[in-house]
Amino acid sequence: MHHFEYQKGILSAENVPLPQIAQAAGTPTYIYSRATLIRHFRAFDAPLLGIPHLVCCSVKACDSLAVLNLLVGQGAGFDIVSGGELFRCLAAGADPKKIVYSGVGKTPAEIQAALEQDILMFNVESEQELKKINEIAGTLGKKARISFRINPEVDPRTHPYISTGLRENKFGIEISRSRDLYQKSRRLPNLEVVGVDCHIGSQLTSTAPLVEALTKLVELIAHLRALDFTIRYLDLGGGLGITYHRETPPLPDEYARELLAVAQDLDCTFIFEPGRVIVGNAAVLLTRVLYTKETDTKNFIIVDAGMNDCIRPSFYGAYHQIWPVAQIPVERDYVADVVGPICESADYLAKDRPMPRVKPGDLLALMSAGAYCMSMASNYNARPRPAEVMVSGSRFEVIRRRETFEDLIRAETIPRFGS
Ligand code: LLP
Repeated sequence: MHHFEYQKGILSAENVPLPQIAQAAGTPTYIYSRATLIRHFRAFDAPLLGIPHLVCCSVKACDSLAVLNLLVGQGAGFDIVSGGELFRCLAAGADPKKIVYSGVGKTPAEIQAALEQDILMFNVESEQELKKINEIAGTLGKKARISFRINPEVDPRTHPYISTGLRENKFGIEISRSRDLYQKSRRLPNLEVVGVDCHIGSQLTSTAPLVEALTKLVELIAHLRALDFTIRYLDLGGGLGITYHRETPPLPDEYARELLAVAQDLDCTFIFEPGRVIVGNAAVLLTRVLYTKETDTKNFIIVDAGMNDCIRPSFYGAYHQIWPVAQIPVERDYVADVVGPICESADYLAKDRPMPRVKPGDLLALMSAGAYCMSMASNYNARPRPAEVMVSGSRFEVIRRRETFEDLIRAETIPRFGS
């Protein structure tokens, strides 16, 4: 459920008609609905209220300061994967005690920064990383709280690029080796082992793989407790899918019910790292039609947003609905590719899509653009990244101004030794 609906034939974000935003902020622009963000966070959080838990929203899905700040206000913690994400969380007012840090390649500087902030825990992904964290904690005179990220070898049945819990993936520690590593961690004095973690993949449309992973972790926790480890946290990662097209992913309360059936009496604080399910359907990318073009084989709608602004269709073959801002019916015989200005054949937002007969100047909205869209945007083809706007009721504000050409070269210098 989201708050992007037609009001008197014009697509609106909550009560703001999108043409008003196009006029004020230009295009392409990402538009977030505050009410949708809050609704999604609460829908995820509420079914868990009966058990000790922490919802650590995954920053990589959407790292906008305004969105992070809004989530802080809802009581969220965060799942980070870099020093930059830690910096963003702190700038947004996050409580470091609610931050968990995953990722296979944490650098010494990033580990140090996270220790200095006293984050809740590191999700450790290799033996060498374990030793590095112990060493850096020692030099800082601190004790690092850690969980191991377990690879439970479960097929999440999603796109191969976003599967992370298979045997061949680079993530986590094989479950068969994990007990050995827990034992080794006892010999490292600057660590406190507090939990077990996994994340098996993203855009999951069934709970079965998550339940399978959880079942394996519950077994592992029983073994570890028998060995006298105090396991206080169970982090199940993110992964719950959303409807982009015709998918029917489980709703958060169904997800919670199924998980609790397996792990109700575990005596752990549950951590979740949802990204897409909170922010995915809470934003659209507003774009303007520049030209239309017909060839012998295809119709093209050329818009001012490209793969640099939203790479999901090009990179994963992802489907995003495209709605006309002024409601016009889709003609069955008009099928087009909606493409951007980038010089790559893979630069498309939709392929072979039944579309309304739009004309230059018309506005279109790429739906479900809150997750992994702006956070994956780039400056390819020297294109300034889009603006971001947040809507609340009848009000809206620019929460990130459009980049300028000056921004594009801000970090660069021409060497003095000449050309
Ligand atoms: N936790 C960890 C350790 C993760 O690696 C991820 C996502 C999440 C949580 C959040 O997963 P979510 O709830 O959003 O599914 N760029 C891709 C998605 C990559 C996901 C990477 N990891 C896309 O556009 O589909």
